[in-house]
Amino acid sequence: MKTVLSGIQPSGRPHLGNYFGAIRRHVALSAGTDTCLFFIADYHALTTSRDAAALRDATRDVALTYLALGLDVQRAALFRQSDVPEVLEIAWLLGCSTGMGLLERAHSYKDKVAKGIVPSVGLFTYPVLMAADIVAYDSDLVPVGKDQIQHVEMAQDMAASFNAVYGPVFRRPEALVPEEEHLAKVPGLDGEKMSKSYGNDLWIFESGKKLRAAVNRIVTDSAPPEEPKDPAKLLLFRFLELFLEPAELEDWRARVRRGGPGAPGYGHLKVRIAEAIEARFEPARRRREELLSNPAEVEAVLADGARRARERAQAVLERARRACGLR
Ligand code: ADP
Ligand code: TRP
Repeated sequence: MKTVLSGIQPSGRPHLGNYFGAIRRHVALSAGTDTCLFFIADYHALTTSRDAAALRDATRDVALTYLALGLDVQRAALFRQSDVPEVLEIAWLLGCSTGMGLLERAHSYKDKVAKGIVPSVGLFTYPVLMAADIVAYDSDLVPVGKDQIQHVEMAQDMAASFNAVYGPVFRRPEALVPEEEHLAKVPGLDGEKMSKSYGNDLWIFESGKKLRAAVNRIVTDSAPPEEPKDPAKLLLFRFLELFLEPAELEDWRARVRRGGPGAPGYGHLKVRIAEAIEARFEPARRRREELLSNPAEVEAVLADGARRARERAQAVLERARRACGLR
């Protein structure tokens, strides 16, 4: 039996990219036989958040999202990163056997600084904390999106550097990346990668007027409906592909390819996208509403998850402390 671990930062409302690239896969994994741990990376969020109330809200939102979407919390542990402070000590131990050069090569640090985030020490050492998250639970598999592969590779390097000095303490993790390109990189409303930081994201539980308004923002050109088009080149189809059954999808493709009188225009496709999103998440939306009025239930799940996670992290930390002479 393997141990699967992943984290998601509470930095705004989870969007469709987070759903297809991460949360949906985590929920599916939680129904399997491996031991699963999923956490809300609130320590990591502090590298960019400066607003306590917003961080608390976003943390609750991630928990609600997992539960509403059906994470099996009997099998999987769902917890807040900061409820397992052992990871901070493990991060220190890893940091002391990691060369500066490794961190200096991190793409995500450079990208974030280029985007204007003020570089703090925490932002720079972000990958060390992430490596600690991973090794703290003897994780084998780390399901993440493409953007996080380098971080998992850095965790492998840090674990190996520590082990080279002190012996086999930390387990080597492997990244688990979605094979289907369209799930690994869900487009945003503007066609770039969907991301909170680009303002092109769509909240998983958006509905009604707001959902229709957001879908209307999906970028198109001004070609008339009658003009035959290649669906593979239309951003709208990248959304339809996420939600429609193959037969219906093929039908829309054929009609757009054919063009002519009666061919669907962009407006028709947008109406179908909004309907499909609304329908897909309707049961989860209702479950989310229920949970929203029952915060004690959510808190109990997180507390139980933290207890299970902490037991594992304490055992790993103890092993590491002994190995490096702290005991
Ligand atoms: P954001 O870019 O909005 O800040 P995060 O970096 O917090 O999102 O991503 C959380 C998880 O969701 C990660 O596993 C990431 O790979 C996945 N993810 C984020 N955006 C997308 C996307 N557009 N397509 C697929 N997966 C995504
Ligand atoms: N850095 C990840 C992200 O932004 C979140 C994260 C933190 C994580 N610690 C982790 C993911 C450990 C996997 C394993 O998406």
